[in-house]
Amino acid sequence: MRKLIDAPANQQTGDVIGKSQPHESAIRQVTGQARYVDDYVVPMGTYHAAVGLATDTRATLKGLDLEAVRQSPGVIDVITIDDIPGQRDIAPVFDGDPILVDGEIRFHGQPLFAVLADTHRHAQQAATKARVVSEPLPPCLSVSQAHEQQRFVRPLHRMERGDWQAGLESSQHIASAHLSIGGQEHMYLEGQVALAIPDEEDRLLIHTSSQHPSEVQKLVAEVLDVPLNKVVVDMRRMGGGFGGKETQAAQWACLAAVLARRNGRAVKLRLPRAQDMQATGKRHPFENGYTVGFDAQGLIQACHVDISGNCGISADLSDAIVDRAMFHADNGYYLGDCLVEGHRCQTNQVSHTAFRGFGGPQGMIMAEAMMDRIARTVQQDPLSVRKRNLYDADARSETHYGMPVGKPLLADLIEKLEHSSDYWQRREAITAFNQGSPVIKRGLALTPVKFGISFTAKHLNQAGALVHVYTDGSVQVNHGGTEMGQGLHTKIAQIAANELGIGTDGIEVTATRTDKVPNTSPTAASSGTDINGKAVQNACQQIRQRLAEFYAASVNGDADTVVFSQGRVQCNGKSTTFQDLVQQAYIGRVSLSASGFYKTPKIHYDRDTGKGRPFFYFAYGAACSEVQLDVLTGEYKVTRVDILHDVGNSINPAIDRGQIEGGFIQGMGWLTTEELRWNADGKLDSNNPATYKIPAIGDTPAIFNVDLYPRANDEDSIYHSKAVGEPPFMLAISVWCAIKDAIASTADYRHDPDLNTPATPEQVLWALKSLEEPS
Ligand code: MTE
Ligand code: MOS
Repeated sequence: MRKLIDAPANQQTGDVIGKSQPHESAIRQVTGQARYVDDYVVPMGTYHAAVGLATDTRATLKGLDLEAVRQSPGVIDVITIDDIPGQRDIAPVFDGDPILVDGEIRFHGQPLFAVLADTHRHAQQAATKARVVSEPLPPCLSVSQAHEQQRFVRPLHRMERGDWQAGLESSQHIASAHLSIGGQEHMYLEGQVALAIPDEEDRLLIHTSSQHPSEVQKLVAEVLDVPLNKVVVDMRRMGGGFGGKETQAAQWACLAAVLARRNGRAVKLRLPRAQDMQATGKRHPFENGYTVGFDAQGLIQACHVDISGNCGISADLSDAIVDRAMFHADNGYYLGDCLVEGHRCQTNQVSHTAFRGFGGPQGMIMAEAMMDRIARTVQQDPLSVRKRNLYDADARSETHYGMPVGKPLLADLIEKLEHSSDYWQRREAITAFNQGSPVIKRGLALTPVKFGISFTAKHLNQAGALVHVYTDGSVQVNHGGTEMGQGLHTKIAQIAANELGIGTDGIEVTATRTDKVPNTSPTAASSGTDINGKAVQNACQQIRQRLAEFYAASVNGDADTVVFSQGRVQCNGKSTTFQDLVQQAYIGRVSLSASGFYKTPKIHYDRDTGKGRPFFYFAYGAACSEVQLDVLTGEYKVTRVDILHDVGNSINPAIDRGQIEGGFIQGMGWLTTEELRWNADGKLDSNNPATYKIPAIGDTPAIFNVDLYPRANDEDSIYHSKAVGEPPFMLAISVWCAIKDAIASTADYRHDPDLNTPATPEQVLWALKSLEEPS
C-alpha cells in the first residue's frame, strides 16, 4: 500500500533541491563504518572513567568513604565535587545542577563521584565500591505532592484571553477531566559518551555526543576555570539524540575533562545503558486538567486548561518545555475565552529534559482530549467536532497567546486526508463491525497537528556557517547544527550544492566544531535546517558572487547574468567548469572561503502579558489511525495509519518521509507501550530495554500511507520548506484517540473514556471498566 511519491508539486526546481537523496551516512551506518565517539581511535594511554550513583532518593550526605574505590584494581584517580577546579553548577539556564552530589542527594541515580581507571571495566567495578553514609530526607515523588508542598522549579506562567469564567458559566455544556500523561525514555541507540583529550597547557579537545557542542564547550571551560577559547568541541554525529543530548550530554564531557586535566591523559566516559537511563532526564510526565464550555454543536465557548509538568529536581529546560506545552494546548483549535496555566513542579526525580516536541505533545493531547469529550457529549462524530473548532480566517484566527495563525491550512489538509483515508466509509464499516463483534472492537480517529516552529528563547534563533572551496573545486561545509540521524547534513549538502551549482558529491559536510563556527545554538526545536540552511546559503552566495564577478570580468560579461549549474559556469555565451573557474580564481587571488549568518525574523514574545508571535510559522499535519482491540485482555494493534504532512517545499522527500514515519512511531511508543515506572521509594524500575518497551518493527502498522502536503511555506524559510523533526511525533495522538474510540464503542459511543497514557493494556482495561453500566 505504500505510495512512492517524489517531489510534491509547487517544488522549487533545481538539480538537487526536492530530490530524494539517501542520508549522507546511510551506507556507512548500515555497514558499521560510521564512527561514533566510542569507535574513535584513542590516543596512547587513554584512561576510562565511570560514575558512582546515589542509591538514596533524597538524603543528606554525611560521609563518602572512597577508600575501597581507590584500592580497586586499575584505579588511577577519584573525584568528588570538591575536586572541581572551577564552577560546580553546570545548569544550562537556571542554577541547580551540581556536576556531582553537593551535600544533599536529590534523586536516585544522582552521580556522587567519578572514578578513573585503566579500563572501562575496572572503572565500572570500582564505581560500585563506595561506602555512603547518608541521612534520609522525605522525598517529593509526584506532581500532587509538589503542589501540596508548593515545590516548583520555576514560577507559574499564564496565558489568558477574555472573560473565560463568564464564558464557562454561559456555556450550554460543560465538561472537565484530568489526564495523567506519562514521560518517555529517549532510548537513543548510542548512549551518553565523551572523550576528553588534553592538549598543551590548559587546552583541551572534546569529542562528545551532544546536540549542543557550544554549551559543552562553555561548561567544560567553566568547570576547568579556563577561557572558552582553550576548549574545542568536535561532534561528528550522534546515534540519536531526540532532545536527550540537548543539555544532558554536558555532564559527562565535563567530568571527563576534569579527569583529563588532572591526569594529563585522554579520558573516555561512557555510561552503561542502565546508568544512562537512571542518571539522565526523560520527557516530562504531566498531570493536566481541563474544563471546557461548548454549545450544542460542540463549538468551544470557553475553557480553562491547567497543566503541571513533573520537572524532576531542577529547572534544566523545564521553563521553555512547560511554555511549549501551554503554546500547544490549543493544537489547531480556537479555544474561545480561555486561561492556560502551566506549573513547573519539582520532584526528587532526575531532571526531566527536552524530548521531541519539547512539551508540545503533553499540551496538544489536552486539545484532542477535549475534542473527544465534546463529541461524545453532543453525540457527533469526533472528526466533525474537530473540523468545527478549527481556526478560521475571521474572528477565530488568533491563538490564546495572541499570534495570528495565518492561512488556516488544516481544514484543507484534513479534507484531503479524510478522502484519501476513506474516513467516513470506514467509520460506517467499523460501527457495523463493532455491533456484531462482542470481544474484538475497532476504533478510528483522525487528528491534526499544528506545531510552532522557532525556539521560544528568541536569542537561540541564529546560526552560523563556514564554507571553504578548495582549489580542486571540492567544497567543505561547516555549520552550527549537529547530525543525529535526522538528515540535517544531507539537506545542508543539497543546499550548498544548489547554491554553487554543483552536485552533492562535491560537498563534504564536516563535523560540527566550536572552532569553526562559534556560539552555536543547540540543534533542537526542529529548526536545524531552517536556520543552518539559511546560514550556509548565505556563505555560499558570498563565494558565488565573488566567483561570478571574477568570471564576468574575464568574459566581458555582467556578474548578475552568470549561471552556476550542473558543475558548469556560464556567462556571455561562454562557459567553463566550476573546477576550472575555482582554479583561475585562486590564481587571481579571490577568497574562496566565507562565513554565513542567519537570524530568524519576525519573532517576539512578552512573558509579562503572555502575548506575542513566538513562532516564525506553523507546521501542519494530520493522521488517521485505526486500531483493533480485545476487550477481554486490553491488548490492541494499530492496523492502519494514513498521514498527510506539511513540510512546505520538501528539500529531500525521502528524508522527510523518514522523519514523519519515525516521529509517528516514536510518538506511538510514548502513548502506548513505553511505561516509566518509579517504585514507591523513587527508584526507576524500568531502567533497561527489558523492562521498558519501545515499539519494535512488528508494531509498525501493516498499512502505513505517508504523503507530503504539496504546498510551499508562505514564510521566507529556506526554499520555502518547513521543519519536520518534531511535528510528526504528535500525529500519534490519533492512535490514542482511536483506542478511546474502540473503548467508547462498548458503551454505544455515548461516553468518552478516561484513558491515561501510556495506554497499556492495563490502562485500557481500567478505561473499559469505567464505561461499564453499574449493575
Ligand atoms: N531523528 C533522528 N533520526 N534522530 C534524532 O535524534 N531528534 C528529533 C528530530 N528527529 C532526532 C530525529 C528532535 S528532538 C529534533 S528537535 C530534530 O530532529 C532536530 O533536528 P532538526 O532540527 O535538524 O530537524
Ligand atoms: Mo528536540 S526535543 O527540540 O531536541
